[in-house]
Amino acid sequence: MKTLFLCFLIQVFFSSADTLPQNRRDGYVHIAEADTSAGILILVNKNLKLPEGYRPHDLVPVEDKYNKGVMNLLRSLAAAAFSDMCRRAEADSIVLWNRSAYRSDTIQAQLFENAVIRRGLKNASRYSARPGHSEHQTGLTVDINSVHPSFGNSPEAAWLRKHAHLYGFIERYPKGKEKITGYHYEPWHYRFVGIRAAKYIYENNLTLEEYHGSIGKEIRDTAR
Ligand code: DAL
Ligand code: ZN
Repeated sequence: MKTLFLCFLIQVFFSSADTLPQNRRDGYVHIAEADTSAGILILVNKNLKLPEGYRPHDLVPVEDKYNKGVMNLLRSLAAAAFSDMCRRAEADSIVLWNRSAYRSDTIQAQLFENAVIRRGLKNASRYSARPGHSEHQTGLTVDINSVHPSFGNSPEAAWLRKHAHLYGFIERYPKGKEKITGYHYEPWHYRFVGIRAAKYIYENNLTLEEYHGSIGKEIRDTAR
């Protein structure tokens, strides 16, 4: 009986989630396909969706020593950079580890559904992406240590804010940029873009959306 009721609730939420007014409320408007040819600079957000079933070809497990997550895969360049970053942090007495890295669209759908049941559609959409819209699916993103808002005040988060760009990672959903990124502050969610782009984004205090808007495609191409 309980299961039936749960199915009913999910149906109610998701049959209405695709209607236009709902889409407007949770930010999913003018959806186009993400440019998968952009390599490590790929932009995925509420407006840019990955092709169905997209899975990067070079996923590898995060080094065991720096992993506590079941979702432990990253693209090979990102995995190597993550190890380098964790090793350097360790030397500064900062312990970092993967909590959640690559997620398929099937897994993302489950997470999003759970978030909607817990928080309601509008609030869930500030923290959780719909399947196809999560950059976790690019294999270039890693949630580090804790997904509790208090993580932002920890020495680990402070270390990441200061050093992550040196290893090619950016804080993807910074404080105060929700209107641009579409997501609430997530101090644990780091995205690999390579050292050159990460340095530019860090030094100019940009989001990845702003970076894509502010520099020409030709320049981005050289950083792939
Ligand atoms: N928490 C981020 C937005 C995601 O679900 O991909
Ligand atoms: Zn994340």
